[in-house]
Order: sequence, then C-alpha cells, then structure tokens
Amino acid sequence: MKLQDSNIAFIGAGNMTEAIVRGLLDAGEVEAGRICVSDVDPGRRALFSESIGVEALEDNRAAAESADAVLLAVKPQILGSVLEELSGSPVEDKLVISIAAGVRTRTIEEGLRARTRVVRVMPNTPALIGRGAAAYAAGRAATEADTAFAAAVMQSVGVAVPMGEEALDAVTALSGSGPAYVFYLLEAMLDAAKTMGLPDPESRKLALATVKGAADLMGESGEDAAVLRARVTSPGGTTEAALGELERAGVKDAVIRAMHAAEQRSKELAGDG
Ligand SMILES: NC(=O)c1ccc[n+]([C@@H]2O[C@H](COP(=O)([O-])OP(=O)(O)OC[C@H]3O[C@@H](n4cnc5c(N)ncnc54)[C@H](OP(=O)(O)O)[C@@H]3O)[C@@H](O)[C@H]2O)c1
Repeated sequence: MKLQDSNIAFIGAGNMTEAIVRGLLDAGEVEAGRICVSDVDPGRRALFSESIGVEALEDNRAAAESADAVLLAVKPQILGSVLEELSGSPVEDKLVISIAAGVRTRTIEEGLRARTRVVRVMPNTPALIGRGAAAYAAGRAATEADTAFAAAVMQSVGVAVPMGEEALDAVTALSGSGPAYVFYLLEAMLDAAKTMGLPDPESRKLALATVKGAADLMGESGEDAAVLRARVTSPGGTTEAALGELERAGVKDAVIRAMHAAEQRSKELAGDG
C-alpha cells in the first residue's frame, strides 16, 4: 500500500492530526482529497474543512470506513470508546496506526480484532512544527509494508525509527518526555542569564541557538556527546568551572534516574507497571 495512492482517515482532529495532515499536504505526499478527519468538536471540523481543505466528519465510523488506513489520534483515555465504536466494522481489516501515548498494540487488537494490522507510534511535541522524533512498533498482524506506511506518515513531521514494542516505554522516557528535559535546562539557563543582568530577548535568542547548534554539531560531526563536551572544556577554564558544579550536584545521575522514572510511569499507565 503506497502512501500516495491511499485514503487516510484521522480519528480525532486535534493538534497532532493537524500537524501530520499539514505535513503530508505540504510535502505533497498525499492529495487533500485522500484525507478525511473526524472529531466531536465542530470548531475543529470547520478548521479542517475550511482552512486545510480536507473532508471533516462527525461520524468516526463513516470516516474510517472510507479509508485504507486509519490513524487513531484521540487522547488515550478516549481510545477505548472509539475502539468500541469502530469494532465490528470493516475498519478491523484496515491498517490501524495509533499515536495514543501508552496504549499497547494488544489493547487495540483486543478492541478490534486479533488479526487487525496495528502499528503503534510514540511521537513527541516538536512534530507540531515538523521536527518531531517518533518511534514505531508493529503489532502481531502488521506487515513490513504496514510499518513502512506508518513510517512514511510520521516522516512528514520529523524523524521516525523502528523499535520493538517492548522498547516504547523507554522511548517515551527518551524522546516522548525529552523535550521537557530540554525546556527545563533552558528555563534554568535563562533564569541564570537574568540574574547576571542579560536582557531577555537577546538571552532567549542566544540560548535557543546554543541548544540547536549543539544538537546539530553532534548530528553533523557524528561524535559522541562526551567527546564534544571534552572538546569545549579546557583545563582551568569557564566550562570546567560550570561542569564541576553540575557533577557535584549529581545532575547526570538525576537525569538517568528521571528517565527511569518516566519509563516506569509509562509501564504503570499502560497497566503493566
Ligand atoms: N501532542 C503531542 O505532542 C503528543 C505527543 C505524543 C503522543 N500524543 C498522542 O497523540 C494523541 C492526540 O494528541 P493531541 O495532542 O492531538 O490531542 P488533542 O489536541 O486533544 O486532540 C484530540 C481531538 O480528539 C477529539 N475527540 C475527543 N473525543 C473524541 C471522539 N470520541 N471521537 C473523535 N474525536 C474525539 C478532541 O475533541 P475535544 O477536545 O472536544 O475533546 C480533540 O479535538 C493522544 O493520544 C496523545 O497521547 C500527542
């Protein structure tokens, strides 16, 4: 099943669906006529039909039935009722892609049919500006073509990498919650800049360019983080003074503990913690 030749239905027309639909259309990957969304909110339906130019329905089942692939993009706590609505319909024989955080492929298969082809995706918020990081995992019946299809959809809003489903709790801890760790660091850096008397808009500009530049330097050089860190840390210099404080405060260990806590919480939320 090729992305360009497929009809895709998005159940739930919230922020993530908007990002992915805009990403697919901007990239010219799918024609607007091949996309249909459904949502309970008339305001969201109006946005999609009037501003984005795709069909927007109130009826989830009708939206899903007209598609080759169905992308589930409602909040995890709503997903059970949406699966109930879709069960017993032809949707069970289509490719079902779920981006609902923490919901196992098995839960979706049980809600539809054991042989329904399910691919689960763990995206993150920078997808909203086309710079997301997502991992995807196949359910029991999904084929390689199905995972390739899901990958192509998610690549319209960033990078997407394949993973075994057992790794998705760790992925949640790494890239799902990851943006918050970076925001936390930026918050602290900007608080410090303020106490040093630096003006706000300029500090923000410098801090953002620093984070983006450091990430791109690591990506483009292919070097390990530790190597790049050592390279900017001259003995007796300013960076060494700063990193010494971080080491004494146990920041690295705290980050490691934080990620384990996120992974554990992801397992608990999925009901097997
Ligand atoms: N945002 C992220 O960065 C992010 C990251 C990782 C994973 N995810 C996952 O992506 C999924 C979507 O997230 P989101 O941020 O796009 O959520 P969202 O903006 O809240 O979108 C969900 C949409 O579904 C609508 N809806 C509620 N009940 C429905 C129903 N029964 N049938 C059809 N539509 C219904 C909601 O309407 P109302 O608002 O009126 O209820 C809302 O417009 C979630 O499962 C989330 O876990 C999101």
